[in-house]
Amino acid sequence: MERNDIKTVIRNEIVNCLLELQGFLVVGNWKMNKTKQEVKSFLNDIASYDFGEKNTIVIVPPNPYLYLFEEKLRYSKVLYGVQNIYPKGNGAFTGELSLEMANDFGCKYAIIGHSERRTIFSECNVFISKKVRACVQNQIKPILCIGENLEERKNDNYKQLLINQIKEGLSRIDVSELSKVVIAYEPIWAIGTGETATPDQVEETHIFIRKFLTDEYGSDVGNDIPLLYGGSVNPTNVKKLALAQSVSGFLIGGASLNAQTFKEINNILNGN
Ligand code: PGA
Repeated sequence: MERNDIKTVIRNEIVNCLLELQGFLVVGNWKMNKTKQEVKSFLNDIASYDFGEKNTIVIVPPNPYLYLFEEKLRYSKVLYGVQNIYPKGNGAFTGELSLEMANDFGCKYAIIGHSERRTIFSECNVFISKKVRACVQNQIKPILCIGENLEERKNDNYKQLLINQIKEGLSRIDVSELSKVVIAYEPIWAIGTGETATPDQVEETHIFIRKFLTDEYGSDVGNDIPLLYGGSVNPTNVKKLALAQSVSGFLIGGASLNAQTFKEINNILNGN
């Protein structure tokens, strides 16, 4: 074997060992995709698959399919959640889903303030903060999504924007409740575009966010909040992204729709 080949083998071994040590939170966001039949076949496929012990796996389907998840996964290690909630109990809110309902189906997570909700459905930070609080009060972990668009990125003011999204998003909960929250950094220009942020860009932004969290809420709390990356994550780029400092896991859209691809990502994060 050539010297360079040996170096590559050793480097890969070290990387795999590092991945084997770290537990990741891996969340699949299906958005508005899949038929009932496709959901059934995905669930059958993953039911027999061993995701291992160290990663936390969460799948977030469209609401009509939650009953299938409850049937298949209620007592499994694979968790599931909702893509959005309305921050009130039951009542006259046509078209909305309450936390009581999400709880009833055994959901453990809710994606809150995804950029598609912010841009297409005009959700603002105040509304988002109410949803975060409602989740925390109802034992559902909110995954608070933050991220800048391309213009904001180019103007270089995106870091202040991220801080505002975090500060306002978390403004209605107490510091003691922050351990129940997950933050997902998803640059809008990398969502569904195939254009991933580079590991360096992800690392730089995650370190910046982590520093803000520890400065603002104290080092114990700030270091404890899982910080996910999302935006065109796939089996080809996930290993390098996983090695970026302060990345605790991933919010995965397109690549979570296919059971095989989703399992492959998990295998890579297990160091296999
Ligand atoms: P993507 O979506 O992986 O398809 O880019 C990520 C997300 O929107 O959460």
